[in-house]
Amino acid sequence: MKVLMVAPPGAGKGTQGAVIAAHFDIPHIATGDLLREHVAGRTELGRAVRHHLDRGELVPDEIVLDMVHEAFLAAKERGGGYVLDGMPRNITQARALYRIAQTLGMTADVALHLKADDDELIRRLLARAALEHRADDTEPVIRRRLALYHEVTHPIVAWYAERGILVSVDAMRPVERVARQILTALEAMRPLLDHVPQHARRPIDLTGLGAAFGTND
Ligand code: AP5
Repeated sequence: MKVLMVAPPGAGKGTQGAVIAAHFDIPHIATGDLLREHVAGRTELGRAVRHHLDRGELVPDEIVLDMVHEAFLAAKERGGGYVLDGMPRNITQARALYRIAQTLGMTADVALHLKADDDELIRRLLARAALEHRADDTEPVIRRRLALYHEVTHPIVAWYAERGILVSVDAMRPVERVARQILTALEAMRPLLDHVPQHARRPIDLTGLGAAFGTND
């Protein structure tokens, strides 16, 4: 299973990425986590990217692309599956990622789009700020991250819809219900992935199926 996620900050990329990775026994490649490890370890790369993370700005494309290329090589050794969390962030990254994945025979089966309202995302990230201490979980920086998402990341969703690999999920519901819907969709698609050619694939919108997977209450 090869999955990438396109979703705003706080939608649950990290949370659901871990669930998908455990379920399919595939590596969870999270660009934000990899960058934060460099910052915490005060590596040369960490020192170079720290101010981008602290201000909620994107790190230069070449840095994250090199990082993901390396992680893909390791994932290939483990069988080629992955769940990619945090990349791509813009159309340049989306195209470059496609070329890297194509060279390795690892193009994504599914682009998972987690949909949630800005007010809920801000609420979640401020709640996390009270418990953890991520430098970018302050209200002004959260608003900057969200603005960047809407401006440069969200347009990629249409690109994945055109490629027929988009699966959209309502991420406003509790974690376990979102997880159940994602795993059900991915399990249903799994037997088809090797048999449906890319040109015959169609986007799937599950956001209206909330009731089938439990409502908020
Ligand atoms: P990154 O680490 O990717 O951060 P982000 O996109 O801002 O996302 P978050 O980690 O805040 O949220 P999430 O969607 O993973 O949600 P989570 O599961 O944690 O990137 C950080 C920075 O690194 C970027 O700003 C940039 O500087 C740099 N960067 C990274 N990738 C880059 C790239 N490709 N190019 C350039 N720069 C890059 O959940 C959030 C909270 O909500 C948690 O407390 C969780 O418990 C809770 N929660 C989750 N789901 C639910 C739910 N369904 N209901 C209630 N609460 C929930």
